[in-house]
Amino acid sequence: MKVLSGIQPTGRFHWGNYFGAIRQYIALQGNEQSYYFIADLHALTTVRNPAELAGYVRDAAMDLVALGLDPAKATLFRQSDVPEVTELTWLLMTITQMHLLEKCHAFKDKKAKGVAADAGLFTYPVLMAADILIYDSDKVPVGADQIQHIEVTRDIAQRFNSLYGETLHLPEAYVLDASAKVPGLDGEKMSKSYGNTIPIFDSPKKLRKLIMSIKTDSTPVESPKDPETCSVYELYKLLATPEQQAVLADRYRAGGMGYGEAKQALYDAAMEHFGAAFERRQQLEANPSIVEDILQQGAQTARRKAVEVVERVRAACGLSSSPVPFAR
Ligand code: TYM
Repeated sequence: MKVLSGIQPTGRFHWGNYFGAIRQYIALQGNEQSYYFIADLHALTTVRNPAELAGYVRDAAMDLVALGLDPAKATLFRQSDVPEVTELTWLLMTITQMHLLEKCHAFKDKKAKGVAADAGLFTYPVLMAADILIYDSDKVPVGADQIQHIEVTRDIAQRFNSLYGETLHLPEAYVLDASAKVPGLDGEKMSKSYGNTIPIFDSPKKLRKLIMSIKTDSTPVESPKDPETCSVYELYKLLATPEQQAVLADRYRAGGMGYGEAKQALYDAAMEHFGAAFERRQQLEANPSIVEDILQQGAQTARRKAVEVVERVRAACGLSSSPVPFAR
């Protein structure tokens, strides 16, 4: 079983990234093979400041390791350290039908807003397909917003196989119901582009302030409340044990509890859950070479597999299986 996923370094990771994806990466690591990468090539479609991008990549790697991604169990690397992936993107692009990309939401949303989309945004799903197919991946842990892209990946692989014979392995999305769509401060999907995120590694003071700002309805303190329609409770469910959830749900239904108390319970649960990662993050910050070494080792492992698959694809298309060796 090969597990693979990628995450864009476009800012500090937030709870949507964690509960939607990172937590699954950690639970699945140690599978026969697991590959996780920082999608810096994808981030180029939105981050145009080089120093900012480099900082986000560095933060992303430290965050992932601090949260529990273990290089002894999983391969962690930078997408751009495996240049074969851009070669595979072109090979796939030649057989990708336009209508597949036209229906993808990232492109459609921008177009609907009248934003001029560039070719990178339009062909973004083909790079993502190459990311997945280049490691013969079986299982791709993601949040619900990425399911469409995995379907496009399967469509592209199927078309390639029907044109050139069985070459590419079909992957499947792995989405946990409970964390498919993590709500943000305003109750909409938590996303950097909506400005409604809770960053994982904010200081306790900032975290508390953000949690206290989660939008709730205006039911008076003394009235009973429905936990199932409240974002505070939805987030609490991601962090608390079933027993703890039942206790808080009963308090909602009984009345006499204000939303401030529920928010305090959420803050306490978050501090408990992320406390150890926070400390590990500080240690890694003091020794940046630890994480850089992990990324470089990871790139070696990932690239070995990528070269093998690209050689297969090149040969299937009628190209020489590898380019002539290059001596500088
Ligand atoms: P990205 O960087 O936007 O998000 C990383 C992961 O976090 C999940 N996620 C969420 N899940 C639930 N609720 C939320 N509010 C929420 N916000 C983010 C996303 O579903 C994702 O799993 N295109 C991808 C990166 C990528 C990739 C890949 C993923 C590039 N190549 C290959 C898998 C396989 C993206 O933009 O994710």
